[in-house]
Formats: sequence, structure tokens, C-alpha cells
Amino acid sequence: MPDVDPAWLPPGVFRALGTRRTLIRGSGRLVETVHGEAAEACARFGGRVVRDSGPGDTTDDLVLELTGSDGSDGSEAFTYEREGGLTTVTASGQAGLLHGFFHVVRLGEDAFRGERARETHCPAVALRMVDHWDNVAVHPVMGQVERGYAGGSLFWADGRARGETERVPAYGRLLAACGINAVAVNNVNVHESEAHLLTDRIGEVAEIAGALRPYGIRTHLSVSFAAPVLLGGLSTADPLDASVRAWWAEATERVYESVEDFGGFVVKADSEGQPGPFAYGRSHADGANMLAAALAPHGGTVHWRAFVYDHRQDWRDRTTDRARAAHDHFTPLDGEFAANAVLQVKHGPLDFQVREPVSPLIGAMPGTRLAVEVQATQEYTGQQRHVCWLGPMWSEVLRFRPEGEGGACVGELARGGLVAVSNVGDDPFWTGHPLAQANLYTFGRLAWQPDADPDSVLDEWIRLTFGPEETSDPVRLRGGLHAVLDGSWRTYEKYTAPLGVGFMVQPGHHYGPSVDGYEYSPWGTYHFADRDGIGVDRSAATGTGYAAQYVKPWAEVYESPATCPDELLLFFHHVSYDHVLHSGKTVIQHIYDTHFEGVTEVEQAREVWASLADLVGPARHARVAERYEEQLRSAREWRDQVNSYFFRKSGVPDAHGRRIY
Ligand code: GCU
Repeated sequence: MPDVDPAWLPPGVFRALGTRRTLIRGSGRLVETVHGEAAEACARFGGRVVRDSGPGDTTDDLVLELTGSDGSDGSEAFTYEREGGLTTVTASGQAGLLHGFFHVVRLGEDAFRGERARETHCPAVALRMVDHWDNVAVHPVMGQVERGYAGGSLFWADGRARGETERVPAYGRLLAACGINAVAVNNVNVHESEAHLLTDRIGEVAEIAGALRPYGIRTHLSVSFAAPVLLGGLSTADPLDASVRAWWAEATERVYESVEDFGGFVVKADSEGQPGPFAYGRSHADGANMLAAALAPHGGTVHWRAFVYDHRQDWRDRTTDRARAAHDHFTPLDGEFAANAVLQVKHGPLDFQVREPVSPLIGAMPGTRLAVEVQATQEYTGQQRHVCWLGPMWSEVLRFRPEGEGGACVGELARGGLVAVSNVGDDPFWTGHPLAQANLYTFGRLAWQPDADPDSVLDEWIRLTFGPEETSDPVRLRGGLHAVLDGSWRTYEKYTAPLGVGFMVQPGHHYGPSVDGYEYSPWGTYHFADRDGIGVDRSAATGTGYAAQYVKPWAEVYESPATCPDELLLFFHHVSYDHVLHSGKTVIQHIYDTHFEGVTEVEQAREVWASLADLVGPARHARVAERYEEQLRSAREWRDQVNSYFFRKSGVPDAHGRRIY
């Protein structure tokens, strides 16, 4: 393996399996992967792997058995049981066997103890995808990876595929080990060089697909809606034009000649300047269905993003509400999308803020396959310089029930998949901030099982990443890591934009505070603070009507400040600074208190991390310690700018007389 951090697969996690006798039954590409993994573990730890021995051989500890005739049924399910000292994993599909293998790896010694009745494990969500916003050529503003905080791209450098043979398979292996099965390899903002990946540069995509395939990962590509014009020389990209449809059908056919198991297209259309069907007076269903038709004969899927809004809004215009846009655009199209078209919806109505309500679009389109998109890359949550473990946020989203108790939850409604924007780059620690690895791992595990307890997932990540062979005191290290990670999202929320109001970031790069940074911009993200109060009135009675995009009970809960949860109050309502929250505090005092608390929590976390210096490798420790210095500097800046801003606007002093500038 290359010289990169082993992340959640250090050699020690294979010890339990590697010291035992494993029998593997079945054949195929992924079975070979399982065999290779088991053989490597046994070579290291002294165990033994045999293939396809007869039923009479009883000398095994572990049997991994493919039960389907050729394992090509695509099933990812597996069974697991332990009886009479024998651990058995069976699967009808090769991918199931691979996931079953990693299940045993995760269990470690527990996989070989006691008895365990047969359990069936099956992913709740069939498509579990990571979308890379990687540019093929360095973009003058966005760099190699748009919103990337982990160095360059894993896939691309200097305008072409890196052609590196080791890092991409190592990545695929990590993804498979946490349950991810799809990757989109290029930015949703498709610039010229990315556009060519679809046609004359498909060979570069095929190379990446070849490196990921042994881990059961299918490759997807972001494409430009204008490709027929840009690449095909046609005069139109009208989705109802016969020549355009023929062009896409042929281009797609050629893609499959190069990548036989190609997953499909990801499309950002009519969004932030990207081309789309509106230019031709066509609907987004027309656009998506055209691509779905091209993909259908080959078993591919189009992921059509619902991130469609007016990014040239006049800030003076209070009637337009960006939060409404996705629901307004897409609900009229429910039922019109083809079976292999998936509408990919950001989890919140705006843009991956530290706190947003769940998008009302999720649950409002029963006749459409939806995928829900979260952002592992920490664009608005500290850019991998701050510790911000997003597990609790994602879990809240996935457990949210748009129709209230008794209705389905988001994890169940995401029939078209769960997607995370990647937080990985060519950084030796993969994610820039070594602790940001926990976000990628947690995403994978929650995508497999959306109702999993995020704290247990984090615990699993800690146990795998920092086992007894990686540290002298796993118990103390585990306690320390929980102390710094468990509450880190809420800590981040405390010292940044308050009570769900969002943004207040520096325009463009989105790092660090600028309370009015977007207040007079065309981007539709405002807080409307004045001397009397703050927040966006999104009620139906007096505001933009956004709250009414929900059904009951949420439409009612969010409609009134009396019932709206505190953490979302300023997202839904404009209230005075002396408005009393459910917590009993006024809004202004809440702002002051949380900002002081947030900084204190970062100071404490930094101390905890310092105390772990003897337990983690020096490079990792130094990297995190250095980032804590920056997090603390930045958190203080946030605290002082936000508190001073609201003190100056409101004139209300802090009840505790703390320093405000
Ligand atoms: C955000 C982000 C952009 C990105 C966009 C998207 O607005 O700042 O860089 O392109 O989301 O999701 O398409």
C-alpha cells in the first residue's frame, strides 16, 4: 500500500482474522479481493486461508461462502453467524461477501467468541455515494478541488488523470470497508476539461473505474448539460431535440464500451451558472429523462441535482426566498421522472450550513426517487481546520420524519441513495485534518444503516483507527477522542452563526466570520439584523411562506416562534433581541453565552488533545495540535465579531459583563 495513512484499516485490525484459519468458497473478482485481503492478513499474523475445500473439512474458524451460482446477482446482503466455534458469512452476491468480510474485520476478536444466531445484514440504502468536486485542471478560483481542504485531487493533477496505481485502490478499500459503493470522480461544476471526460477522455475515467472496481465501487461522472454543443458541435442541447437525444445515446454507449459497469451521470443544471433545460423552455424532468433514456439500456442512473435557485437575487427584494426554490421548482414535476432518474436533494434548503431544517422537498415527492446529499467536505463547518464531527447532524437529518411520528424518516425516503460531497484529497492523512477521517467513515456507516447510533459509529472508528497496535493506551485515547469529537459539531455551532440563521461567513472562500459578508449580495442568504432584532420571517402568515412547504406537524411547529425549536428560530422568524427562547434566555443573551462557551469548549478540547501526545504518532499529533491553534484563533475571531456586532446593533450589554468590543 502507498505511503498514506491506513486510516481505519491499520494492519492491527486484521489480527483476529489473520491468526485464524479461513475457508473461502466461491469465485469472481470481489471474491479474489476478499481472498487477497485474508491472505495478506494471514501472511502477517500466521493464519491460513484455503479455497473451496469440501464440506468435510472442519478445521476452519471462519467460512466466507458465496452461495449464488456466480455471485453476480448484485446483492450486497450477507448473513453472519457463529455456531460450534465456527464463524460463517454467506452471501449470494460477491459484493455481499466483501461487505461480510469487512464486518468480520470490524468485529475483530468478537467475531470469534461465543455463539451468535444467524443475522442478515443488508444495506438500507442501495446507493451510497461519494461525490468528488475535483477539477481535472486547476481552476483559477477554486483550485484543484472545489471546496477541497485536503490537498490536491486523488484522481487528477496537472490537467489529467494522475495514473497513480496505489492511492486510488487504497481509497477504494477504505470506502468499501465503511460501506460506500459509488464514487463520482469530477466536479459538478463541469469546466472544459471535465466535459471532455465524457467523450475523448473517457479512458482516464476507465482507469479510475478499474482501480475502484475490485472494491465493489462503481464510477459515476458529472457531465455538462451543454455537452452536445460543447463536445458534439450541435447547435442546441434541447432535451426534446432528436439529434440531441441521439448524441447522448451514442456518447453514453461509448462510455459503456470503456467502463462496463459505469454507474451513471451526475448533473448540476440551471444552477449557479451551469447550463440546463430552462434555456430551451423545457422542464427539469425533460432534461433528466433525456439522460435517463440514454443510460437505461446499460443499467445506469442519472443523479439530477435539485440545487436550483436564483443566484442573482436583488437583496432588496424580500419576496424571493432562496430556501423555497427547490420545493417550488421540483414538486410540480413529481411523478414525471423516469425510473432511473434520481433527484439529488441537499439535506437542507440552503447550503450545508451548520444548522438548517431538513429540506421540505424530502417527503414531498412520493412519485420520485430521491437521493439526499450531505457535505463531508467542511465548507461551512471549519474547512478541516476545525474539528467538527458531523455524525450527530447527519443522524438527526436521517431520523427526521417529514410527516411526523408514524411517517417515514429521511433515511427511508432516500430511495435513490445517500450521497456525501467528498472531504478527501491527496493529503497523506487523506482529509487534511486527521480527525476529519471520522466524517467519511461515519457517512459510510450511516448510509448503510441510517438509524445507526452515531456515537457507536464514532466509537467503532476510534477502535479501528487506534487499536492496541497503534497506541499504548487505547482506553485513555478513546476517552480523549470522544471528549474532543462527540460535541464538536455543537461547539462549532455555538461560536458561529446563531440559532439557525446561517452564513455570516467571508464571501467566496467561506472561511471565518463576516457577519454582513452576504447581507447585500445577490446570493439570497440574509440575516436581516437591525437595531431591534434578527432573523428571516419564513412564516406563512407574515413571511415568505416557506414554513408552509412542510406538511403537518412541521408546518405548524415552524410557523410560530412559540413552537419553533430554538436552534432554528432565526431560520424561520425575525424576532427582537429580547425575545425569550424556550431555554429561558433572551436571543441576545443566548448569542453572547454560546459564543463565549464555544471558545471555552475549543480551549478545553485543545488541552485534551495536548494530553494525548504520548498516545498517537508524532506527525498525527502535531498536525491536529497545529490545527487546534488555528481553530482557537478562528473561534475567538468569530466570538468577538459576532458578539460585538450584535452588541453594537442592539445596545444590550452582556448580563455577565464579559468583554465585548
Ligand atoms: C455551494 C458551494 C459551491 C458548489 C455548490 C453546489 O454553493 O459553495 O462551491 O458548487 O454548493 O453544491 O453545487
